[in-house]
Amino acid sequence: MSAVHVLNGPNLNLLGTREPQTYGTTTLADIEAGLRERASALGLSLTFRQSNHEGDLVTWIQEAGRAGAGVLLNAGAYTHTSVALRDAIAGSGALAIEVHLSNVHARESFRHHSFIAPVCAGVICGFGARSYALALEAIVPLLQARDAAKA
Ligand code: DQA
Repeated sequence: MSAVHVLNGPNLNLLGTREPQTYGTTTLADIEAGLRERASALGLSLTFRQSNHEGDLVTWIQEAGRAGAGVLLNAGAYTHTSVALRDAIAGSGALAIEVHLSNVHARESFRHHSFIAPVCAGVICGFGARSYALALEAIVPLLQARDAAKA
């Protein structure tokens, strides 16, 4: 069974009330519930986590990489600042997709650069809470292809 770890960074615990004009009113718990339903239909095991601390995210990326799990990473603001998260993905070999609710390219210029995107298989942004569901759909064939190549 393929495993996917959904890792959420700083301030994403505030979804639902945080800047709803930008992020909508769906809570992180709602996103988790929707993904759990879809993951079970796809036969995936799902781990869903959030932390406001960069080091937790580093540890969790390493853990996912070691376990061979795919990673859907919404690193929040750390996307635009963190070499450590980039190195965690590259160093652990985790197959990762960068996820954002908002279209970061249509926002302030400091959100246009991602330290993480170059070590991810792809980036999905701008579809609100649906960005996560789209990323889940996208990672399944990538994990299958990677595992088939290993076998
Ligand atoms: C975000 C975009 C980031 O720029 C921002 O710092 C966030 C949320 C998003 O999901 O749209 O915290 O990652």
